[in-house]
Amino acid sequence: MDIKQLQANLAATVRGNDILKYEVQNVLDAFSCATPKLKYLELQVSKKCAKKDENINQLTNDLQECIKELGVVKPLLTNLEHFPLIVDVPKVMKEISSKLLDTLVDFTFEFVDQPLSPSQSNFAPVEEIGEVVRVTTIQGKIPDDFPKGVYIRNGSNPLFGGLKSSKSIFGKSSHLWIEGEGMLHALYFTKEKGKGSKWNVLYKNKYVETDTFNMEKNRKKPGFLPNMEGDALAVLMDTFLNLLRFGVLHKYISNTNVFEHGKRYYSIAENHMPQEINIQTLETLGNWTVNGAWNQSFTAHPKKIPRTGELVIMGINPLKPYLELGVISADGKQMVHKVDLKFNRCILCHEIGVTRRYIVILDFPLTIDINRLIIGGELIKYDKDEYARIGIMPHYGDANSIKWFEIEPCCVFHIINCFEDNDEVVVRACRARRSIIPRPEFIVDEFGLSFDRLNEMSFCKDNVQVLKEILSFFHVCEWRLNMKTREVKMKNPTTANHQFIMEFPMINERFIGLKNKFSYLQLIDSEDFSNYFGFAKFGGIAKLHFEERRVEISKDDKQEDDLIKVEYHIFPTKTFCSGAIFVQKVEGVDEDDGWIVAFTHNENTNQSQVYIIDAKDFESEPIAIIILPSRVPYGFHGAFMPFFNL
Ligand SMILES: [Fe+2]
Repeated sequence: MDIKQLQANLAATVRGNDILKYEVQNVLDAFSCATPKLKYLELQVSKKCAKKDENINQLTNDLQECIKELGVVKPLLTNLEHFPLIVDVPKVMKEISSKLLDTLVDFTFEFVDQPLSPSQSNFAPVEEIGEVVRVTTIQGKIPDDFPKGVYIRNGSNPLFGGLKSSKSIFGKSSHLWIEGEGMLHALYFTKEKGKGSKWNVLYKNKYVETDTFNMEKNRKKPGFLPNMEGDALAVLMDTFLNLLRFGVLHKYISNTNVFEHGKRYYSIAENHMPQEINIQTLETLGNWTVNGAWNQSFTAHPKKIPRTGELVIMGINPLKPYLELGVISADGKQMVHKVDLKFNRCILCHEIGVTRRYIVILDFPLTIDINRLIIGGELIKYDKDEYARIGIMPHYGDANSIKWFEIEPCCVFHIINCFEDNDEVVVRACRARRSIIPRPEFIVDEFGLSFDRLNEMSFCKDNVQVLKEILSFFHVCEWRLNMKTREVKMKNPTTANHQFIMEFPMINERFIGLKNKFSYLQLIDSEDFSNYFGFAKFGGIAKLHFEERRVEISKDDKQEDDLIKVEYHIFPTKTFCSGAIFVQKVEGVDEDDGWIVAFTHNENTNQSQVYIIDAKDFESEPIAIIILPSRVPYGFHGAFMPFFNL
């Protein structure tokens, strides 16, 4: 099958979408002319380079001409504004074009393994283990009043042995670590029948099988071209080819979080809708569209409204409407409210907050812009000169009912909690002065590094102090937004000496949206900056006491009066955690009646574990360390799911 035949088939099969058909035909025309030239040029360049022939001006000119012809992709992407993100490419066209486009990709693109340094060894993916495995080694004792249920964590576990970069005549592009396919790791806490309170602990892992996971798995080789980071033309071409080959712009990775709603369980990454999971087998049951009402991106951190149990979600979209918000009934069966918030830019927003009466919306200047990409800029960019604001909206409000509060530009990935306190709405979050997605320009500028080297580098000791200063931007931050006077008060309640960077916050979930006293955060040890970018390692956990002042106050510390008490639970040397959560005691009374539970990995012994730490006796040794039967790579968010009818 050649391109002419494909075009004929297109004309016969693509109906009711003339603009798209026209654009696709244009692009195929361009490819049919340009790809043989590209291959020829590629051969010529390699020959010239081999001979160290410096006279390659003609080749350069030819190459530029070639790329001009391929410039026809620009109107296609521009016209995409008129189409939904998921383009329903007709079945016949898919079948006919896939082989042709596969040949084009095989011909023009090379997938290259992204290397991991020895210190990144536990970021490497693992295989599925199959059936559940009983855990036999537990140091210490799981408490009798620990709840029965599943501690489950999601994370990036790239298919085909690891993340890939792509190289082509268009340039280089890379997947970020956050783009690996989602794998769930679950630890089941059950009691043995007839044996009183004896615990039976089981472990299992399994991939989340999204639509695109199945596409690649069936092909038995990488298919999606990386388009999050890299040379602008390469990112543009990769995006376009993903669309043509698979009908979508990017992979659905479902690797970020796990949540329960209406007694059903879901895996989620915010670039797609959630996948329902069988919590016992970890099998993927299908996409959750809320009965067809939500067919788009879905935040990885949906929030239940206090008292009503309704679920607040949002979806971001690189094309209008840029941000939509939804409220799902407590039983999960229907979308009771859906609204376009009328944003004039697409922001990479990871979190949403709720209080008793309001929804908290973060509009910060980390933007996704296809037009910027087309003219040679970044797809994702943090712009400190753009505006930042926090919006407070009634639960069933709309764009007109949001009260906006302007704040100093910054970047927030995770909210700790939001609540109402008299006339104020309080928003506590992990605030950064810059974004680490994509990998920050200032690191490249200040260290003279290329993107190639960022994947491989380790920082020498001389750099640590400088990096410590640069990277100390993750603060716990508190904004108080006065709904009557519109005043904004902001403070950093923890520490000014940046001993630790705090992120991945968790609280007792009974207090989501309500005034609370405690939060727990994973700690990036400032002495372990090795390969920080995209590969953060967490060497401990902090417990913040928002209503207690710290005891030791430095004379030099200007914020001494505002600083709160912080306790630290530091892991043994070369032991790091991920997916830490707070598990409530079954009949707990106090907010901190419960345990911190976390997947950990000891890099000295290459052994993965789960720690159980008493939240009230936080700085003491763990009360139990569960030794896992196989390695669990570092990952993202965890959750504890109580058993309902299992
Ligand atoms: Fe997150």
